[in-house]
This record gives sequence, structure tokens and C-alpha cells, in this order.
Amino acid sequence: MKTIRFGIIGGGLMGREFASAAARWCHLLQMDARPELVAVCDATPEPLRWFTENFAGIKQATNDYKELLANPAVDAVYIAVPHNLHEKLYGAAIEAGKHLMGEKPFGINLAANRAILAVLAQHPQCFARCSSEFPFFPAMQRMGRMIERAEFGTILEVNASFQHSSDLDPNKPMNWKRTVAANGEYGCLGDLGLHSLHMPIRAGWVPRNVRAILTRVFSHRPGRDGKPAPCETWDNATLLCETADPVTGATFPLTIKTQRIAPGEKNSWNFEVLGTRRSARFSTKQANTIQLLDYSGGEQPWQHLDMGHEMTFPTITGGIFESGFSDVIVQMWASFVSELVHRKTPGKFAGCITPQETHLHHKILTAALESHRNATVVKIDPD
Ligand SMILES: NC(=O)c1ccc[n+]([C@@H]2O[C@H](COP(=O)([O-])OP(=O)(O)OC[C@H]3O[C@@H](n4cnc5c(N)ncnc54)[C@H](O)[C@@H]3O)[C@@H](O)[C@H]2O)c1
Repeated sequence: MKTIRFGIIGGGLMGREFASAAARWCHLLQMDARPELVAVCDATPEPLRWFTENFAGIKQATNDYKELLANPAVDAVYIAVPHNLHEKLYGAAIEAGKHLMGEKPFGINLAANRAILAVLAQHPQCFARCSSEFPFFPAMQRMGRMIERAEFGTILEVNASFQHSSDLDPNKPMNWKRTVAANGEYGCLGDLGLHSLHMPIRAGWVPRNVRAILTRVFSHRPGRDGKPAPCETWDNATLLCETADPVTGATFPLTIKTQRIAPGEKNSWNFEVLGTRRSARFSTKQANTIQLLDYSGGEQPWQHLDMGHEMTFPTITGGIFESGFSDVIVQMWASFVSELVHRKTPGKFAGCITPQETHLHHKILTAALESHRNATVVKIDPD
């Protein structure tokens, strides 16, 4: 079993998820490589305690990311920090010779993303990917195989959305995702956009143009001191894109919705493909189910199929048991570690987002900002 020695930079929500996934590695069968958590960094002392209390293998806990990157016992890093730090920290990690799992949006804006990709181009030995776990749900892996086999016929439309609702509460306190300085001009698009665009981009459904409407619902929220603090970023965004299917050449509408204020939706990642021969739907709201409609004439019933634990990277869990968020996080990390070692994935849709794919998504989001600003349709240059 090959061991990849990992450091985590940013011990918040997502940093902990990776640490927990690494601790569950025995859950996976047939892996010939595993991550070992040896170092952790957070700018503040408090998050470090959870890591050192739970992971005996951590030999370095520091508040300075440069110290972690200088550690020769670290082979790869997971960097999960606010968006304004992506360019600086991802670039420093690549230059330090570490493999990198970054977080979305992989740079706070298009310029930062370009800068990260430029550093990567100078260090071709660095294996870099961006995190995005939702395509690892069994239903989405199944849908990915349907896309590969062109089972949908002529695609009529594709709808992808990611909807949260907690911001409906005007008393929810401020955090960095509501400031332009830390989260960027994209607002909810930078936060949720790559999740919604992962499947379409991987499928080759690259938008030719976009028309976007963005909304900011609450102007203020309680700040750290309890006083109203300005909310600067977009809450909700709807993008309508003209997209072509590379299989048939036919164009179809691709709708992307990223919403922080979608009443009733706690954390719903949704994906739907409607076609002349087959249609399919998945939502994390019903994570065990794929909905399918096959048409060859006659009635058009939607069927609901339980997916159980049909995982791309086999696990000890019985095949009939449903899967959830932390299971697909483990799958995503299995994909990262496996691709790092073997430089291939078990399927087209079983890989983490590539840096080039993050670049394309930045072009789409940047075009969406322009579209909203000028109330125009904005062309997207795919190259
Ligand atoms: N894949 C997903 O489903 C998912 C979900 C949520 C967030 N994210 C992404 O993960 C990243 C982090 O988000 P989060 O929700 O974990 O944020 P978080 O606020 O929970 O954690 C960020 C951590 O980074 C630390 N930090 C800040 N500056 C630092 C520095 N200079 N050096 C070291 N540590 C520093 C903070 O102290 C904090 O503990 C973002 O890019 C976000 O978009 C991804």
C-alpha cells in the first residue's frame, strides 16, 4: 500500500471533512494507496486542537502555511481556505513541490485562476485537482455512464442547480462568504457555481453564451459585534446558457442556478437531463434515488430507482445501503489519491475537477457577471 503524506491548510469545515475521510480509509476496498495526515495548518489556534486530539499521526501543527510547505515529510496538500487566499497559497504549494487538492472556485476570479494555472504550467510534475464531491453519488456516476453512451437521444435541456436556504434568516450572522474581499465579486456563483458546472463541463456541454440575472436580497446581517454589517455579495444567480451537444451537434438550453436563498432547500444539489430517448434526474434531497424516463412511444412514466451503495470505488458497505455526503467525500478522495498515483480514473465522470475545467468555469462566471451588469447575452470563448 503506497502512502501519500498529506498536510491540510485551512482546518475549517472542509479541512475536517478530509481528515475524517482519511480516517475512514479502511472503508475502501481494492485501494493500493492511502493518505496519511501528517501536518495541519490554520491561521488561528482553535481549529488545530481538533486535529491534534484526533490524529496521532500529525507531527506538525502550525499557524504558518509556509512552515507546512517547507516540511519535506509532506507530499501533498489539501488547501481549504477563503477564496482571496487561493492564488497565494495554491501557488506557494505548487512551487514548494507539493501535489495539490484545491477548493473551488480555484482562485477568487479569472485573473487569480490564470495565475494559478501559470504556476502549474511551470511545474508539470505537480498533480493538481479541485474538490467537487456531488458527482460521486451513485446516481450521478450512473448518469455519467449514460452521458458517455449517448443514451439521451437529442438533448432537449439540462438543468443544474445548487440551492441553500439558511440565508433566508435575516439574523444569520455575517461570514466571509458575504464579503467581496474574501469571497469575490462572484458571490454565490463563486461559492456554488463549480458544483453546478462540474457535470456539464465534464460532459463537454460547454456554453457558447450566457444571459444571467443575479440578485442580492439582504443588504445587512448581524456582524461579529452584533451591529448590522453590509452583505456585499450576490445571494442568488440564474444563468441561461446556449450549449451544444458534441455528440449530435444540436444546441440546447443549459440552466445553472446557484442560490443561497431558496426557501425549503437545505443543501440541494440537483441535476436533470431531458432528452428525446431518455431523461434522468437526481437531487441530493433524495440521495438514494435516480429518476428515469425511457421513451420509445406510448406513455411517458418517470421511474424511481433506488441506487443503494453502487460506488465507483468499492467499499465494505453492503450494496443495498444508501449513501450520503460523507460517503461521497470518501469517494472523491479515493479518486484523487488513485489518480495521483496512477494518472487515470476509473471512468470519465469519476475524476475530480481539473485545473483546465476550473478555468472554463471562471470564464462562464465572469461572462455571467458581465451579462447581468449590462443586461446582455455574453459570448464565451472556450479556448
Ligand atoms: N467542496 C465543498 O462541498 C465545499 C463546501 C464548503 C466550502 N468549500 C470551499 O472550501 C474552502 C474553505 O471553505 P470552508 O467552508 O472550509 O471555510 P471555513 O471558514 O470553515 O474554514 C477556512 C479555514 O481557513 C483558515 N484560514 C484562513 N486563513 C488562513 C491562512 N492564511 N492559513 C491557514 N489557514 C487559514 C480559517 O481560520 C478557517 O479555519 C473555500 O474555498 C470554499 O469555497 C467547499
